[in-house]
Amino acid sequence: MTKAIVLTGITTTGTPHLGNYVGAIRPAIAASKDENVAPFYFLADYHALIKCQEPERVRQSSLEIAATWLALGLDTSNAVFYRQSDVPEITELAWMLTCVASKGLMNRAHAYKAAVADNEQSGENDPDKGINMGLFSYPILMAADILMFNANKVPVGKDQIQHIEMARDIAARFNHVYGEHFTLPEAVVDAQSATLLGLDGRKMSKSYNNTIPLFEPEKKLKKLINKIKTNSLEPGEPKDPDDCTLFSIYRSFANNEQLQEMRQRYAEGIAWGEMKRELFEHINDHITPARERYEALLGAPEHIEQQLQEGAEKARAVSAPFIKELRQAVGISKISI
Ligand code: TRP
Repeated sequence: MTKAIVLTGITTTGTPHLGNYVGAIRPAIAASKDENVAPFYFLADYHALIKCQEPERVRQSSLEIAATWLALGLDTSNAVFYRQSDVPEITELAWMLTCVASKGLMNRAHAYKAAVADNEQSGENDPDKGINMGLFSYPILMAADILMFNANKVPVGKDQIQHIEMARDIAARFNHVYGEHFTLPEAVVDAQSATLLGLDGRKMSKSYNNTIPLFEPEKKLKKLINKIKTNSLEPGEPKDPDDCTLFSIYRSFANNEQLQEMRQRYAEGIAWGEMKRELFEHINDHITPARERYEALLGAPEHIEQQLQEGAEKARAVSAPFIKELRQAVGISKISI
């Protein structure tokens, strides 16, 4: 049986938080251990430049994200784990795709449309103010990431489904013009993987500034958990676990038995202070071994770099011959004598 190629990228602009872990990293790492899957996971550092022009932040984020995946036990003997910028064929392919993608398709991209809508709302005369071409053609670079490896499945959040559809569209168009070169990818949106709530009870997200970084040191983790918003019910008053940020986070880290027990304690009126302590201890126990590995890795960046280099080598074993074929197909080649 040929393995399904599962590919996903992580933009290197921030520090991974508990929401990223539960929603994306944990399921991806589990999949890396599945022998029927050929996973390609990469640091989307060229994507980072679209929204972040702080070189140190991009560098630091790349380091932290790579260390996070390795600390959590990514199986790099099965998964190809690489940095987008180490595979120059991807950006080369992005240009070929740019030349078959229609501008109208890009005009319809949600991220671009949202930026235009923001400008219009703020009474701006120029609807494209502050929008760089990277943002505009973002879906094309993403299509190149995916098509370069002929990925079958692309696990993403809901907000990215449109991009996968665009990748299919662009691939189909290229195939139509130049012959069948690309597999049409499918988005996989895991309905099971939970959306974690953040400190203020909204979805945990960098843009809401309500996150709990995954490998926050113990003391800080405790402080952040103490900040989570609760209602004003007193100790002893029965509480509703299904309408509680603390419980919703606890749920993503607990087994059924622990959940049943906690529901019981809510019914009995557990105090918020006590629940916060329970939540802290629970998450901390869960995270501590990986946090120790994470800190060790940050102290040995050469080890991380080594892993990424090995990943790039494996990735380029696919991308280098494929780009040759594609160049040939579009008419870019040496003059034949
Ligand atoms: N755009 C994705 C995000 O912001 C990251 C990404 C870049 C990606 N290239 C990709 C995801 C290719 C899947 C496949 O989440």
